Order: sequence, then C-alpha cells, then structure tokens
Amino acid sequence: MTVLPIGSLAGAQASYEWPEDGFTKIPNWVYSDPDIYRKELEVFYYGDTWHYVGLTCEVPEIGSFRRSTIGERPVILVRHADDEFSVLENRCAHKGAQLCWENTGKVEDFTCPYHQWNYSLKGDLQGVPFLRGALGKGGMPRDFKKSEHGLKSLRIHNEGGAIWATFSDDAPSFEDYCGPDILAEVRHMLPGKPIELLGYTRQLIPSNWKTYLENLKDPYHATLLHSFYITFGLWRADNKSKCVPQERGHSVMVSHNEGKKTSDATSEMKRFRDDLEVLDKETITPRQEFNKKRVGGGWIFPSAYMGIQANTLKMRHLIPRGPNMHELVFTHYGFTDDDAELRRLRLKHANLLGPAGFVSMDDSEMLSQLQHGVGAYPHETSIVEMGGKEIEETDYMVSEVLIRSFYKFYREAMGL
Ligand code: FES
Ligand SMILES: [Fe+2]
Repeated sequence: MTVLPIGSLAGAQASYEWPEDGFTKIPNWVYSDPDIYRKELEVFYYGDTWHYVGLTCEVPEIGSFRRSTIGERPVILVRHADDEFSVLENRCAHKGAQLCWENTGKVEDFTCPYHQWNYSLKGDLQGVPFLRGALGKGGMPRDFKKSEHGLKSLRIHNEGGAIWATFSDDAPSFEDYCGPDILAEVRHMLPGKPIELLGYTRQLIPSNWKTYLENLKDPYHATLLHSFYITFGLWRADNKSKCVPQERGHSVMVSHNEGKKTSDATSEMKRFRDDLEVLDKETITPRQEFNKKRVGGGWIFPSAYMGIQANTLKMRHLIPRGPNMHELVFTHYGFTDDDAELRRLRLKHANLLGPAGFVSMDDSEMLSQLQHGVGAYPHETSIVEMGGKEIEETDYMVSEVLIRSFYKFYREAMGL
C-alpha cells in the first residue's frame, strides 16, 4: 500500500492510504481531494492518453473550427486543408490569453484579441503588430523568431470522422491505446461512412468526474434507478448482456433491447411500473438498424463514451471541472445516408439521454446527491462487491466488475 506525499492545500487528505489491498473498497477522498484531482489531470489527461476532441463534420470547410477541452485545457479543432485537421492549444504564445472565444465558426486565420498576434490555421505565428516598433523605437528584439512562437499543435488521430488528440509524444498509437475490443466499439459506432451533425446538449453536474465514469460502468444501477429503462425494456437485468473489463481504464458494457415484459426479475425492480404506458410509442420503439438491438457501448478512457440506445447516436464527452464538478457535452450525430425518418428518430430518441433525458436526468440528480455524501465523509469508504470481488468478463448485469477493474488500473496509475 503506497502513501502519497501530504498535499499542500488546506482540505487535502492527511494521508492517502487505500482502505485495504484490492479494489473492492474505494476511499471517498478520491472524489473530492484537490491534490488527488490535480494528479489525476497530470496522469490521465496530460499523460500518455488519447482524448476525444470533436467530429470532422463539425468543421466542414477549410477554416471551420470548434473549441474543445482536454482535461481543463482549452484546445481548438480546425480544418486547415481539404482533409487535414489540427488540434491547437487555445493559448496565445505571447501572454497566454485564450484566443478563440467562439464555440464554432469559420476563419481565415486566428488573431488574439489582446495584442493581435496572428496565427495560421496550422498555428504558425504570422504577424506581430509593431514587430519593429513605432517611430523607429521599440519593437521586438532582432533575435525574436516568429517560427519559434506558434500555437502548440497536438498529435492527432482521425478514426472514422472523430478526431482524437494527445499531449504526449510517448503515447502509443490510438489503435494500441484502445486495444482490439474498444477499437471494435469505436468502429461499430463510426464505420467510416460520412457522418452529419444533429446537435448538442451540454450540462454541468456538481460531482467528481469519476462519478459519471463509474455510472457508465455500473449496469446494476441502470436496472434499478431508471423507471423508464426498466418499464419499457430498453435496459433490464434480465436482458442478454455483458460487461467486458479492459486495460487502461476502458470498458465495454452492452445489452439488448427486448421491449416491455415481466419476468422473475421484475419483482426486484421497485421502479418497474406495469401501469405506465407511453402514448407516443415511437419514443421507445427503435427502428432496426446496424446494431441489431444491441445497445450500450464502450468507454474510451478517460474522456469519451460511445454507444447506441434506441436510434440515438452520440459522442459523450466528459470534461472535469474541478474536484466537485464535471461537464458533459453530448454531440448527436447521424449518417449522411440516413433517410428522413431515421434522422427524426435519432433526434426523438435523443430525449432519452442528456440533461433532461427521460433516463439520464435520474443520473444527474443521483450523482449530485452522491457527491454530498462522499464529499462530506472523505475518510469513509464505499464498497463495490456486487457480482463478487474478482475481475472477469460477465454475461449478466447485476455486477460492479467494471468499477473494480477501473480501480485496479487507477491504483496502479496513481501509485496508490
Ligand atoms: S496575449 Fe495574445 S497577443 Fe498578447
Ligand atoms: Fe444511469
């Protein structure tokens, strides 16, 4: 058991001893401690990891850009040539001001509002006002080289129309970082067909970023908390399913939509409401498509979850915003060859998830309540033993195996 150096901030834990060996007990301080949070940013967001940034369909023309975030660092995704993209640090090389303030747009180049240093779409510094001063006085020293002061450009990877980036020169390739199972999930959702942007939802949830990560590694809650899922059969404990632990914090969790039904398991589901009906049946009736009733998907740790529920396709982007807050940006997409009815269904089923989603609003509220408990009792522990203490693939849902698998990885990566 490792003990990290004592943090300098008031409110930090006095020591970081894990409650016991293994990964079935989680100390509550991982959800609120500022020093732990800072270390997580360094290890998981600015280390040898790949991050979702945006979709190529969001930047359709040369000069189109989209602001994004990796960890807490603002970046810009920009198309700088027909099929070439850059992810640039959104930080002026002069004094560090954020230079791009719009979420999306189209430009010929980037100009920092502060002293108007101007950069190309690839981030090269092109212009510095008063480079040679005014009235023969001032200006930059003669040895100042514009070529040495561009915007930092990140390593990127385009996978089926999604752009991923890393700050690290040492990170493995995107494919190796994912591993075969996760890569298969990404390619299932983005098979290389042209994609189209359908819209966004954004929300701030007042809880630690890992509470959301764990929420999507936790099929156990989904079978109990969500009346909508259980009642209408979109996600139930008695549906065919599997949880597949992965390396590097990734995970795969999938199930099958079998519609409304009763079974032996129904009696355990207090929120099953046999009397509940949806008047607009289309809300819960997906059209059969490529996934063949298979729902769910994978975490591409740490920043993105990709999956399908009904006919809604989205990139869920998880952004940490301090130890006690995270942001979720859902980018809803479809394929350019979708017919009008399928496009309409994708938008309609987007109502299941997101800030006011028939399903997801349960999670947002639950996670903020969770933060109240774990934040106020950092010295206490939580337990993740549902389905046993081991880490192995399961073909059932009443399991916390993916959370155990995550904390095995987390302890090693964080040196805890
Ligand atoms: S901070 Fe950007 S030009 Fe000065
Ligand atoms: Fe949920």
